[in-house]
Amino acid sequence: MLQKIDELLQEVSAVHISTKEELEQFRLRFLSKKGELQTLFAAFKDVPAEQKKEYGQKINTLKQAIQDTFDTLQKSFDDSANQTIAFDVSLPGTPFRLGSRHPLSIVRNTIIDIFSKIGFTVSEGPEIEDDWHVFTALNFPLEHPARDMQDTFFIESNPDVILRTHTSSVQVRVMENTQPPIRAVFPGRVFRNEAISARAHCIFHQVEGLYIDTQVSFADLKQTLLYFAKEMFGEQTQIRLRPSYFPFTEPSAEMDISCSLCGGKGCGVCKYSGWVEILGCGMVDPNVLSSSGIDSSKYTGFAFGMGIERIAMLKYQIKDIRLFFENDLRFIKQFLAAQ
Ligand code: PHE
Repeated sequence: MLQKIDELLQEVSAVHISTKEELEQFRLRFLSKKGELQTLFAAFKDVPAEQKKEYGQKINTLKQAIQDTFDTLQKSFDDSANQTIAFDVSLPGTPFRLGSRHPLSIVRNTIIDIFSKIGFTVSEGPEIEDDWHVFTALNFPLEHPARDMQDTFFIESNPDVILRTHTSSVQVRVMENTQPPIRAVFPGRVFRNEAISARAHCIFHQVEGLYIDTQVSFADLKQTLLYFAKEMFGEQTQIRLRPSYFPFTEPSAEMDISCSLCGGKGCGVCKYSGWVEILGCGMVDPNVLSSSGIDSSKYTGFAFGMGIERIAMLKYQIKDIRLFFENDLRFIKQFLAAQ
């Protein structure tokens, strides 16, 4: 009897089971009511008294070994069954969130769409520029404060290499390479050495517009900008042009729109004036045309430039320009519906 137990113990420790059916066979053979264990337990009463102790110990060891083997195998079958479920191709996939465009991209695209409807094309120029395209060709006098180190990022070893402070530099490049008629907008990133606050940033974005042909007048400029303001901020929007100064336009103006928030009645956004400034504009100075190789006795033109952040802040009532650059998903996610 004792030898039989030893044999079984060896058999159990060497058992090889690879299917659930085999495991069930194992259970029936060893653990069922008519199985080997029960038979051995039943035989206990016939074991001679002096062997009872040893027999009892061995049979318990065997029982433990059988039970352990069974439990381990059963658990491993259950685990692999669960794994199979994880690869079930009919299960729904892991949900993923749709991305959204950055609000500045949305507003830039809207501006481009509005102008392309009236025949403007789109061009871009380099962000790293030279003095000629940013200042000299645009009629900036040598002592003009905008050239000052305080406004412009220069490269120490070569002050002729600068980060452009406005997209008007692209006007020059386009005029140098194309003869009129020219009707185009130039979106892009610009850089100014300014302290960062809720209203100003050292990096921001502009869209420049340029229209050059025979007989382009200030009335064309005004009508084009009125069309833009209504498309961007709604049909009820009014515009106001205030005389201003830019070296590259003459005459020059700044344009205000009736406050889109209070409709002109006066509120915190328009500082109770009913108007908010959105862009600079004017008739291209004849000097600028000729220094870029365009016959200023034959052609006239207008130009305008606006800050994309400013337009976006007014359109979506965003109070702090820094939000555009922090890329906090809670902010950016809100524009999913707007794109
Ligand atoms: N370049 C000017 C600015 O950055 C804007 C402007 C563009 C004004 C074109 C007139 C004509 O402020």
